[in-house]
Amino acid sequence: MNGTIVIVAVVLLVLALTTLVVSAMKRRDQGMAIGDLSRETVKRDKGLVVPAVADGAPLTGKDIERAAAADRKKELEPVAPKSLAPWVAPDADAIGVSRRQFLNRSIVGGMVLSLSTFGAACIGFLWPKVGGGFGSKIRVGRVSDLLQEIEKANGFLYRADGRMWLTEYPAGSIEKAKNIYSSAELKGMEAGVIALYQKCPHLGCRVPSCATSQWFECPCHGSQYNQVGEKRGGPAPRGMDRFTMEVTPDGFLLVDTGSVIPGPPIGVNTTGQEAEGPHCLAGGH
Ligand code: FES
Repeated sequence: MNGTIVIVAVVLLVLALTTLVVSAMKRRDQGMAIGDLSRETVKRDKGLVVPAVADGAPLTGKDIERAAAADRKKELEPVAPKSLAPWVAPDADAIGVSRRQFLNRSIVGGMVLSLSTFGAACIGFLWPKVGGGFGSKIRVGRVSDLLQEIEKANGFLYRADGRMWLTEYPAGSIEKAKNIYSSAELKGMEAGVIALYQKCPHLGCRVPSCATSQWFECPCHGSQYNQVGEKRGGPAPRGMDRFTMEVTPDGFLLVDTGSVIPGPPIGVNTTGQEAEGPHCLAGGH
């Protein structure tokens, strides 16, 4: 009997200890799940005064949740639109220029500048010269004065500004010339003057005059031309080129150095001038 009582007491004791251990572990699990406050926090909370509602009762958790929900609702309520100010475009200067804008503008500006320079150069090249010089119309001088100057220059008057030779065209040959030359050339020839381009029609050397033969004799390949530029010998394909001429009503010779007329064909010899002395080039005609 005594043995049975002892066994029952031991079983009850084991059961009580087991219950205590299980409930302690359960509490610990709950605390970990919902979070335990630290001892310091619990102590501080005890010192706080819990706010009360209007009737003096302390706030419950539900009261706080209700107040928070009301606040959220208030935040979501649409705000009455205020009167809007008119939109004004931002000031580009105030904003400033980005690096990409700066590069783009630099490239476009550079291209515009290059094209403008190129265009100006083309226009300048094509624009007819009006200020005198080669390529323009040159008012050479009064015809009567020019004839005197030609005589003084021993038959050949050189004008560097027009790259031309001025020589006298004999009046007795003009009828023959009318069958060969155009009116653009004849206007000067009829007045007694002819303007010849200095460039040799063979390969472009500057053709000098020869004082002794009274011809033009080219030092490059030996082409020869009489005093009015008609070919008399050498490899040149034609006579010396000449310029369009006109005589103004007040007697001035105008030579258009921008208008070159090809020289007369081989065989043309309207003046019949033969060499008047020794040739300047060895082995001359
Ligand atoms: S360039 Fe004058 S003869 Fe050849």
